[in-house]
Amino acid sequence: MSEAEIGVIGMGVIGSNLALNIAEKGFKVAIWNRNDKVTHEVVRQAGPLAANLIECKTYEELIAAIKPPRPVIILITAGPAVDQVISHLQPLMQAQDILIDAGNANFHDTMRRVEELKNSQLNFIGMGVSGGEEGARHGPSIMVGGKESSWHRVEKVLVAISAKYKGVPCAAYMGPNGAGHFVKTIHNGIEYGDMQMISEIYGLMRDGLGMKAAEIAKVFHNWNKGRLNSYLIEITQKVLSVIDTKAKKPLVDVIVDRAGQKGTGKWAAIESQTLGVNASAIEAAVDARIISSMKDERVKAEKAYKIPHKKISKALRAKILKQLEGALYAGKIAAYAQGFAVLETASKQYEWNLPLGTAAAIWRAGCIIRSQFLGEITKAYSKTNAGNLLMTPAFIKMMKKDHMALRAIVALSAASGEPAPALSNALSYFDGYRQARGSANLIQGQRDFFGAHGFERVDMQGPQHGPWAMNTGK
Ligand code: 6PG
Repeated sequence: MSEAEIGVIGMGVIGSNLALNIAEKGFKVAIWNRNDKVTHEVVRQAGPLAANLIECKTYEELIAAIKPPRPVIILITAGPAVDQVISHLQPLMQAQDILIDAGNANFHDTMRRVEELKNSQLNFIGMGVSGGEEGARHGPSIMVGGKESSWHRVEKVLVAISAKYKGVPCAAYMGPNGAGHFVKTIHNGIEYGDMQMISEIYGLMRDGLGMKAAEIAKVFHNWNKGRLNSYLIEITQKVLSVIDTKAKKPLVDVIVDRAGQKGTGKWAAIESQTLGVNASAIEAAVDARIISSMKDERVKAEKAYKIPHKKISKALRAKILKQLEGALYAGKIAAYAQGFAVLETASKQYEWNLPLGTAAAIWRAGCIIRSQFLGEITKAYSKTNAGNLLMTPAFIKMMKKDHMALRAIVALSAASGEPAPALSNALSYFDGYRQARGSANLIQGQRDFFGAHGFERVDMQGPQHGPWAMNTGK
């Protein structure tokens, strides 16, 4: 009997948690995994929720169990495995059924899959899901891309399982084809930026101010009570507070300083470049993970250069801690301005009509970058759906106040030899953006000198060339 509202393929941690979340909200959900023992185990451990789980051993059973038009969520490792599952499901599904890829897919793959499925009359949703294991189980943030009619078929379930921000569901339609996965990619780029800036601030506190992990944890704990209130600040404080029982010291002090990455941050940087949008703080965060991974080389380079960290006077601690808070806030503003500028340009390029305010609104809860700050962005974009965040009245006011702290901290990091790539790129972006006359006139002169590329004049219309040969002997 077709009684399931939806199906879920892939019973890994995220897939099984999402299925349990769906079951808990009162929907019957058909579930399948490549190894059916895993599916069985999910049902066995589901307690009363098992009543809403329909254990399926084959794709045929799964499809037969779902009410048409049948939505099937695929939650497996992104990449070719998704294409394989689609090729198995495609002959079993009927016109208007909906395949939903909820993994961290590259949006180009999503666009391709939509095209490939066009003739089959199957619908395809590329769905960004953020929030990790906990979010999948108790309320993620959900970014949907595809046909609006497909969204309406699954809206009831997705809204029910999503996180709620003051009662408002954090699940929404972003636009056609790759829009949902693109928005998730930029979410992750911003996530990289946030994490990097927090770690730069931590580095300055640890190496510059000579603070212990527990002291730093206290600072983040206090910041989390104010305007920096966010999930990432909250977990930073928690991570810094854990004592390792083996080493009998803070766990963070025995974790190797080599950051992993699965690719979404890199995609965010690549897409920004492709679209011609400056996302330098996000790119810097990706680059910082790359340099972090070069541990062996860094160890050798430290020995070769022997440049000591310059300690900051203890007497300045209170003042600098205040500046660090302001710098993190200002850096965040610039990085988010970049992320939203990428979204705006992509929206035009791909004709998605992305609702920027809604994207900010559904990131207020459930996802990794959830924060009070996103409430400010939601407000800013409720009055306009376009334009750089740095030009919205509320953010102009904030930046006017906090750019000085960012400036002071970037200067301090340079003077003390502590790298702060994301914070300094955020500052350079801000300074470049707010400058009516920059220095690119010289680049234009150089380009024209060696390649006759032409330039515009401030006092004349049309392309010009300089009299280089006459004046320089060229
Ligand atoms: C989320 C996260 C998640 C991502 C991890 C790991 O929104 O829930 O962004 O999708 O996979 O954060 O990403 P990296 O391994 O690239 O750090």
